Amino acid sequence: MKLTTNYLGLELKSPFVIGASPMSDNLDSAKQAEDHGASALVMHSLFEEQLSNDSAAVAMFTESTEESNAEALSYFPDSSDYALGPEEYLNHIARLKSQLSIPVIASLNGSTSGGWIGHAKFMEEAGADAIELNIYEVPTDSEESGSELETRVLEVVAGVREKVKIPVSVKLSPFYSSLPNFTKNIHLAGANGLVLFNRFYQPDLDIEDLNVEPKLFLSTSSELLLRLRWMAVLYGKTPISLALSGGVHTAHDAIKGIMAGADVLQVVSLVLRHGSQALDTLINDFTRWMEEHDYKDVTEMRGCLSHQNSPDPAAIERANYLRILQLWKV
Ligand SMILES: Cc1cc2nc3c(=O)[nH]c(=O)nc-3n(C[C@H](O)[C@H](O)[C@H](O)COP(=O)(O)O)c2cc1C
Repeated sequence: MKLTTNYLGLELKSPFVIGASPMSDNLDSAKQAEDHGASALVMHSLFEEQLSNDSAAVAMFTESTEESNAEALSYFPDSSDYALGPEEYLNHIARLKSQLSIPVIASLNGSTSGGWIGHAKFMEEAGADAIELNIYEVPTDSEESGSELETRVLEVVAGVREKVKIPVSVKLSPFYSSLPNFTKNIHLAGANGLVLFNRFYQPDLDIEDLNVEPKLFLSTSSELLLRLRWMAVLYGKTPISLALSGGVHTAHDAIKGIMAGADVLQVVSLVLRHGSQALDTLINDFTRWMEEHDYKDVTEMRGCLSHQNSPDPAAIERANYLRILQLWKV
């Protein structure tokens, strides 16, 4: 059974990649993930705020990012709260590269154009096989239009592309007005891959203490459906690698992801909850299912239920919404 797949031009032994998370922070957990079958490792992100607030890092760049006021800064973690500082991050790339045989993808996380993106170059020099650029932003400015916001994102992508030769993927949120068009432009800006999607950590409201409370829950398979829809829509429209991130917990989830069009499946919550051993079951069940259904390789399955290949493309579109609502009986 051939599980090999190509992601960002990297030949991977299977589609199961460890997504950006604390799994990469220490060598033991990273090594365990590799031993249990992970085919690549995306590192925990290095954040724009770390680079623009760290005086050593700022000194490395000629321009800095947007001004932040003191109140806004107080919401950010102290530099000691980050698992790795900018310099340590680079050393850690080199350490991971020396201990692992799977590709190591560094992760840069930010939302505005600025000197911080220069760090991509250092990541490449430290040995990263690719860079995942996580564009995590929450638009709150009523003066900024959707197209201005997209232009800003495209500038960040083009900026990173200009700095490095290694592949660059872009991790997005689902909240853009036309993902197919935006994806095409992200590709034109130089990205080699797309990661669908960021998971938004939505703050809850404490109605007694009148506070906004940060909340982080690990995912369940229910998060998969949003990814499947957009994976299926984007597959085949732009020649860009596609990674699914969010809600992969079982072999069936993984098979659906591939059939929708994913080249790889990034897994985080599953391994944070159950340890890297969970990858054994996931990969074994995935392989067994393929054997039982006479698939000879992953390529044969990929995209067979995408919008362009599905026997019922309307089920992915508006028609399905109409049908579902009309079928509900009281
Ligand atoms: C504890 C934790 C830390 C994470 N850190 C990052 C990060 O540094 N950068 C990033 O792009 N995504 C980060 N993520 C998001 C994951 O990479 C992934 O997109 C998300 O958890 C959805 O995948 P899952 O359903 O397999 O958990 C983190 C997730 C968790 C739970």
